[in-house]
Amino acid sequence: TKTYKIALLPGDYIGEEITSGAVKIMERVGKAYNVDLQFTRGAIGGAGLDEAGHPFPEATKNICKESDAIFLGAVGGPKWDNVASNLRPERGLLEIRKELGVFANLRPVKIHSSLRDKSPLKESIIGDNLDILIVRELIGGIYFGEKGREGDKAYDVMSYSAEEVERIAEIAFEAASKRDKRVTSVDKANVLESSKLWRETVEKVAKKYPEVELSHLYVDNAAMQLVINPRQFDVILTSNMFGDILSDEASVISGSIGMLPSASIGKGVGLFEPIHGSAPDIAGQDKVNPMATILSGAMMLRHSFNMEEAAKIIEKSVELVLEKGYRTGDIYSGTEKLVGTKEVVEKIMEEIEVLLQK
Ligand code: NAD
Ligand code: IPM
Ligand code: MN
Repeated sequence: TKTYKIALLPGDYIGEEITSGAVKIMERVGKAYNVDLQFTRGAIGGAGLDEAGHPFPEATKNICKESDAIFLGAVGGPKWDNVASNLRPERGLLEIRKELGVFANLRPVKIHSSLRDKSPLKESIIGDNLDILIVRELIGGIYFGEKGREGDKAYDVMSYSAEEVERIAEIAFEAASKRDKRVTSVDKANVLESSKLWRETVEKVAKKYPEVELSHLYVDNAAMQLVINPRQFDVILTSNMFGDILSDEASVISGSIGMLPSASIGKGVGLFEPIHGSAPDIAGQDKVNPMATILSGAMMLRHSFNMEEAAKIIEKSVELVLEKGYRTGDIYSGTEKLVGTKEVVEKIMEEIEVLLQK
């Protein structure tokens, strides 16, 4: 039996609802493959602030240091909207990403065939097998530049070094070389200096990958292209803020933001979380779609523990539950079976039991 230690950081609002099912599922699949997944809970975000006076408490940092991977729910919400900027729940998330050095945020956008009619885009536009990978730079750019407020003036500096761009570009080209071999780099090089450097650096990295086709888009056009012709994309490579915005936009193509998982990787351990936030508007009502979080768990098993088969079983089970028509409200279109968060988890568990018997 192998043992892996995982820091479990549910966070705020829906955090507990989305992570508890995913943990049960991972434990079950782990057991089937003789892998003991040991979860240790820690507070982050608003929960950290309430418990320990900081959105990324020392105690949580220490749990992370002893873990092989980090599994996170979501942070933030109205309860902490008025705390000082440097203590906001979101700051805890930025700090943990920085501390772990997870510079590459992988956000795969796939359309499950049974959700095609739920996408706001026409079926003729999304086609059959939409499969985009957004590679978002995660620990640089405008999120991490100098910030300040002087009276009625405020600023956030956006800067990138060639080295920061190079390492994220490498991740994108490596990924593309194993996929459809196309990278679209998204920037604003017609206006921003940091984007000019971004573009030049990406061009340099591209030379090492002659088999991968590189194209560039300005971010405004990219936002439009995602809606009029998403199939043109294979890997989208972009900066921290552009990636944040484009991935929420891209998520609805797949039916709902509640479907999109993510993996954040760097030199050390990985961080796995859904792309959505803490959804305060539906928290505590058994309404939230747990699939993005469950699929983030599959990404963790694959990327951190090399458990490809186990990851596939989880992904397949989600697919089967969708095919059978069990839907939370965000992906319900009026004719399927409307169910709550807990029931979705139970249905996925049932499929997992069946697949594990095979
Ligand atoms: P949000 O992603 O939390 O919610 C946006 C909308 O999508 C809401 O209507 C919500 O109900 C819905 N939604 C989100 N996830 C869903 C799911 N799994 N199933 C069904 N519906 C879902 O974004 P927001 O409302 O702008 O932000 C709320 C809080 O979350 C803020 O404090 C924000 O800073 C924070 N946030 C955190 C993260 C994170 O922890 N990674 C990401 C985004 C936002
Ligand atoms: C996300 C979120 C975060 C981000 C916020 C909450 C800091 O929107 O994970 O996409 O902007 O990275
Ligand atoms: Mn976001």
